[in-house]
Amino acid sequence: MSRFDALPLSPFTRLNKLLEGVTPGASPIHMHLGEPQHPVPPFVGEILAKHIADFGRYPPIIGPEHLRKAIAAWLGRRYRLGSAVDPDRHILPLVGTREGLFSAAFATVPEDKQGKKPAVLIPNPFYQCYAAAALSAGAEPIYVNATRETNFLPDFAALPRDTLARTAAVYMCSPSNPEGAAAKEETWRRLFELADEFDFTVLADECYTEIYADTPPAGALAARHRMHGDFSRLLSFHSLSKRSNLPGLRSGFVTGDAALIARLREFRNVAGPQLPLPIAAVSTAAWSDEAHVEENRALYAAKFDLAKSRIGNRFGFRVPDGGFFLWLDVGDGVEAATKLWREGGVRVLPGSYLARDTAEGNPGKSFIRVALVNDFATTSEALDRFARVL
Ligand SMILES: Cc1ncc(COP(=O)(O)O)c(C=O)c1O
Repeated sequence: MSRFDALPLSPFTRLNKLLEGVTPGASPIHMHLGEPQHPVPPFVGEILAKHIADFGRYPPIIGPEHLRKAIAAWLGRRYRLGSAVDPDRHILPLVGTREGLFSAAFATVPEDKQGKKPAVLIPNPFYQCYAAAALSAGAEPIYVNATRETNFLPDFAALPRDTLARTAAVYMCSPSNPEGAAAKEETWRRLFELADEFDFTVLADECYTEIYADTPPAGALAARHRMHGDFSRLLSFHSLSKRSNLPGLRSGFVTGDAALIARLREFRNVAGPQLPLPIAAVSTAAWSDEAHVEENRALYAAKFDLAKSRIGNRFGFRVPDGGFFLWLDVGDGVEAATKLWREGGVRVLPGSYLARDTAEGNPGKSFIRVALVNDFATTSEALDRFARVL
C-alpha cells in the first residue's frame, strides 16, 4: 500500500465515469476544465524561434538571471514592493505551479511535529494536487470547509489548538479554485499570525490572481512584507497559465522566504524539473508585458457580464473576486451536471468531485463549477442552454 492509496480518482476521471454512456443533447461545449482558451500572446512564436538552439542545453534549476529579474520586477510593480524581492534569494522558476505546489510539501513537512504526525491544512473544496502532496510527504491532510458562511474561504483559526500545533503547512488558494474568493490583506495577516504562533509555513496558491473584474486581489507576499518586513514562513506560487493563456508552456514561479526557497531549490536540484531555456525566454517577455494581460482580463469581464445578465440572481450567482469559474448552487451538483450534458451537451464539473466528505458534509455537494474559458459566442450559446435546461 502506498501513501497516496487514500486519494480518490481525479475529478475528471469521475466525471468521465458519470457521463459515460450518456448521450449529449447537443454539440458538446466543454466547461468542466479550467484550461484557458483565449489566444496565445503574439510574441511567443518569435521568441521561441529565436532561442531554439537553447533546447540543446540543460537549464539550471534557478533559471536564467533575466527571468528571475523580470519576475522580481513584476512582483515589485504588482504588489508595490519596490526592490524588496531579490531575484537571487526570493525566486525560483517552476515548470507550472503544480509541480512546485507538490514539491513544496517535501520542503516544509518534517517527520513529526512535537512528537506527533504533522498535519497539512487544505481548503475544502480544493485543487487536488494539495492532498497528493500532503499524503506523499507523510502528513495528515486536514480538510477545512469553505462555505458561504465563511465567505468561501477556509477559516483555519477556528481549528482546535492541538491541530494547529501539529500543523506544518497550510495551502491557501486565493483567488480560490473553484469559488473565486480572494483573501483580503487582513485575511492573509491573520493567517500569518497563526503561522507565527504555531510555527507553520503558508503555501499561497495565487495562480488566478491576474484574472479579476475590477480590484486586483491582495497578495500574500505584500501582506507578509508589510506585517513583518520580510517574507518569512511564506511560499507564494504564480503562473503564466491563466495570466497569459499559456497553460501548455508550463511556466510559473515560487517566491517568498529566502531559507525555504533555498531548501526547495536544493530539493528540486536533484528531484525537480528545470524550465527549458527557450521557455524561460518566452516567460521573461510574458512577465514583462501587461498589455496582453489587460486584454485577457477584458475578455473574461465581458463573459462574466454576460453570465450575470443571463443567470441573474439564480443559483447564488456571484461574479468571482478572481479567476474564471462560476460556482453555482444548483441543489444537487451531480444531478445538474448529468442533466446539462444529457439535455444541453454542456459539460460541467460537480462541486462534490472537488471536495472531500467531512463531518459537516461535502461542501461542494450542491454546486457545479463552470469554467468560462471558451470564446464569447460559445459561452453565450452555453448560457442559453443553461437557461433552457436548469
Ligand atoms: C488552484 C490551482 N492551482 C494550481 C494550478 C496549476 O496551474 P499551472 O501548473 O498550470 O501553473 C491550477 C490549474 O488549473 C489551479 O486551478
